[in-house]
Amino acid sequence: MPELLAKKARHGELSDLLKDYSRQYYLGDAPGISDAVYDALYNELLEIEREFPLLKTKDSPSQKVGAKASRKFSKIKHLSPMLSLENAFNEDDIATFLERVRNLSGRDQIDLVLEPKLDGLSASLRYKNGFLMAGATRGDGMVGEDVTANILTLDCVPKKISEWSSFQDVEVRGEVVMKKADFRSLNESRLEAGEKLFANPRNAAAGSLRQLDSAITKSRKLTFFAYSLISEDYPPQTQMEVLKTLGKCGFTISDEIAFCQNQTEAFRFYAEMEQQRADLEYDIDGIVYKVNDLQLQQKLGASSKFPRHSIAYKFPAEKAETTVLNIVVQVGRTGNITPVAELMPVTVGGVVVSRATLHNRDEIEKKDIRVGDRVILQRAGDVIPQILSAIPEKRPENSVPFLFPNLCPCCGSALVRGNDEAATKCININCEAQMVERLIHFVSKLAFNIDGLGEQNIKFFFDSGFIKSPVDIFYLENKNSEIQLENFEGWGRQSVQNLFDSINKAKTITLDKFIYALGIPQVGRSVSKLVAGFFKSYESFLESMENKDVTGLLAVDGIGESILGDILKFFENSSNLNVLKQLAGNGKNGAVTILNVESPENNLLQNKTIVFTGTFETLSREEAKELAEKYGAKAASSVSAKTSLVVAGENAGKKLEQAQKLGIKIISEQDFLELIKKT
Ligand code: IVH
Repeated sequence: MPELLAKKARHGELSDLLKDYSRQYYLGDAPGISDAVYDALYNELLEIEREFPLLKTKDSPSQKVGAKASRKFSKIKHLSPMLSLENAFNEDDIATFLERVRNLSGRDQIDLVLEPKLDGLSASLRYKNGFLMAGATRGDGMVGEDVTANILTLDCVPKKISEWSSFQDVEVRGEVVMKKADFRSLNESRLEAGEKLFANPRNAAAGSLRQLDSAITKSRKLTFFAYSLISEDYPPQTQMEVLKTLGKCGFTISDEIAFCQNQTEAFRFYAEMEQQRADLEYDIDGIVYKVNDLQLQQKLGASSKFPRHSIAYKFPAEKAETTVLNIVVQVGRTGNITPVAELMPVTVGGVVVSRATLHNRDEIEKKDIRVGDRVILQRAGDVIPQILSAIPEKRPENSVPFLFPNLCPCCGSALVRGNDEAATKCININCEAQMVERLIHFVSKLAFNIDGLGEQNIKFFFDSGFIKSPVDIFYLENKNSEIQLENFEGWGRQSVQNLFDSINKAKTITLDKFIYALGIPQVGRSVSKLVAGFFKSYESFLESMENKDVTGLLAVDGIGESILGDILKFFENSSNLNVLKQLAGNGKNGAVTILNVESPENNLLQNKTIVFTGTFETLSREEAKELAEKYGAKAASSVSAKTSLVVAGENAGKKLEQAQKLGIKIISEQDFLELIKKT
């Protein structure tokens, strides 16, 4: 019976929430609740009622409103960028940070709040009039994934905060983590079920939160630790006050917080935490030092990447000892030959490591790493594990230095090395290992992102001759009447259909991802964004590549002679240019469609702060706000000097007066819609 009682209590809670939400929605005097929130709660209610039909009372919300289909992940634009933190690695770095804060603020005494740097993924939660409306991952810092339905399954996140009922907009940011004990039991049950294990609690947290099926998230134990609060209606004064308020409103706050008034105290706390680190319930990888005074934080501002008010003092990297079982060489997509050590698996920094790169010929010679050596392995935060050194006393007597090959292990052609280059290369562009690596890169997540075409499948398609060039991927479905993929081992009708669906989905791609997918040496994610930003359209990119005229690119900050040389060299090879044309034609008649770069200069609403007031003819207030946010503007609830634009409808009152007083531009609903059209 206790289960029924617990479910009855939850059912009551859900019914109240859903009724509140419906009332809000129908009365229309407060922003309505988002569909995702409603759906998740409603589905939970239905689930309970299916299990315990007794609870399906006449006044249950299930008897009043119909369930809506649940939605897919969509994107959420953050109200302000979710930046990352600058790292400090020693006391000098912290002293420099504090010195800078003192200089910029003109104050001698800086109060600090020290918090653990939680090792999870950051998330942003938005509350409107006290109701949780949306939850998003950090994403690229500007736009995150809509994980509202998943956030709603976390018991530790309050869904309704009555203290905030009069605040239009409150954003809470924090870290979603999986506690170590929850991580261990999750992996134990995955092991039993024969499922793949998560490498560490952070991966488990990310994998659990970023699930399309919120029932999966619900089955995992995640904890949201809140650490910041942003609101125009309710601006707190200090970071300590933020933490206290969040705690009072029902959020989980780390227990390990310190208020420090000088550097000595702060270093002591860091040292204590480093000692206690292994005994904490959750993984942390450092201590965040934050200026307590939020007005001062504001004043200090941010560089393009980091705020100047906080810094993460990282703990030293973790080390482990293991044995080199073998050294193999790999051929990369640009022909680079990389030696890789295969290791006796060992846990370092919470991750089981069984391979480590030895980078290049010089590195392996300098460190003199040999097969059979005992070596020291280091892993620091996100960094790929490195072999620091061999332990000479433990070297077996018969060991011999590693002999770097002179021939490509795949195609047998002679390896070459440029004068100033660290890399040894196979320069046969028809080397099959390179071709496979190029295809793997082409379909990878940040490029064409074709689900179902992982490394193994690419190798299968390449070896069977069905995919030799990127273009073949997009004609696979046409050729399937001949190939009959469903008759091959490991494939079935459904998996073949899924593959074709994801290939078709990938046929529309942005210009930067397309350029990245080509795999031009030195043209990674950020350079491809710069190149795309310069050309704006595929047509103009193609024209320049055909004419071998790329000098204009030199004007772009971040692109130098060396990158330019690689781009030119790539397109001097006519087969690369042919692949480009077969893929995208002249922009119209190819296998894929490439989206032009949207120019922010044309976006008249980007970064504008808009206030909507009065009643509109065609749009509801909420629709107007959503529209504004979609075009990169921020919708605010009150008029201040920071407001860029006021959209006034019928019966606009005080806000309109205030805008007139401050001389802020005022437009009608029609003007606003026109503006959107032009944007
Ligand atoms: S404050 C400007 N406080 O560290 C970013 N971040 O490297 C302000 N993190 O993206 C964030 N624990 O995901 C803050 N106590 C803490 C944190 C914390 C972990 C993460 C956060 C952020 C990353 C930056």
